[in-house]
Amino acid sequence: MSSGQRDAGVSNPAHVAIIMDGNGRWAQMRGLPRQEGHRRGLEALRRTVRNASDLGIQVLTLYSFSTENWRRPYAEVSFLMGLLKHFVEKDLAELSAANVRVRIIGSRDDLAADLRRLVEHAEASTRNNTGLVLVIAFNYGSRDEIMRATRRLAAEVAAGRIDPAAIDEAAIAGQLDTHDLPDPELVIRTSGETRISNFLLWQAAYAEFIFAPVMWPDFDRAAFEEALAQYRQRERRFGGLAAPSDRSVGVA
Ligand code: FPP
Repeated sequence: MSSGQRDAGVSNPAHVAIIMDGNGRWAQMRGLPRQEGHRRGLEALRRTVRNASDLGIQVLTLYSFSTENWRRPYAEVSFLMGLLKHFVEKDLAELSAANVRVRIIGSRDDLAADLRRLVEHAEASTRNNTGLVLVIAFNYGSRDEIMRATRRLAAEVAAGRIDPAAIDEAAIAGQLDTHDLPDPELVIRTSGETRISNFLLWQAAYAEFIFAPVMWPDFDRAAFEEALAQYRQRERRFGGLAAPSDRSVGVA
């Protein structure tokens, strides 16, 4: 690598979050039903979990069903619910054997009781695994998450257990569904759309965003590696300034 390249020594992100978009368009372009797009999307999800493990990513968060997705036709909503059930039932043993820890974020209140139990089982049975943390965002919306966290903090204040002045960023982060996870350094959205769509609004405050043109069912190892390579080219400053070696200050 030439000395002028910025990614010398910059490592891959520890936490990658992905908005898996484009299943419907992938299917439509092939004259197939949308459900086929989601089915192929699940294959891409499995492939991406394996690739993330391989590439040394520590946490992978996948946006699988948003709080806004309830507005879709009933048949599609129930197909996506079924897909999560199918995924957990079919893949849990394999995931666990690969040392993957499964976490589900999002509101569980609206999920059917059997799905809720399944999700709880997936988390409990992989709790002690030490490999990739796979976070499935399901019935997830960032505003909903922040609202639920705020309600809990407000209840603590009302009960006299917390002084409002003591509510700092850590207190809020500690009430989010992601309280035990690091913030993502990289958010990828497929399908060429350039929106955040209510995903990890708090957690992605300093994340790099990559909008990949590929439809989610086509997201493969090469597309993943391309996104990571782009990330390594980025300069992350967290509101500060570039490293002194990159600045033309202090030159006599
Ligand atoms: C966005 O594509 C995708 C979703 C809303 C669902 C994502 C689901 C999967 C990747 C399958 C795996 C699912 C689970 C539950 C484990 P879109 O339908 O919005 O595509 P479009 O924008 O092209 O219509």
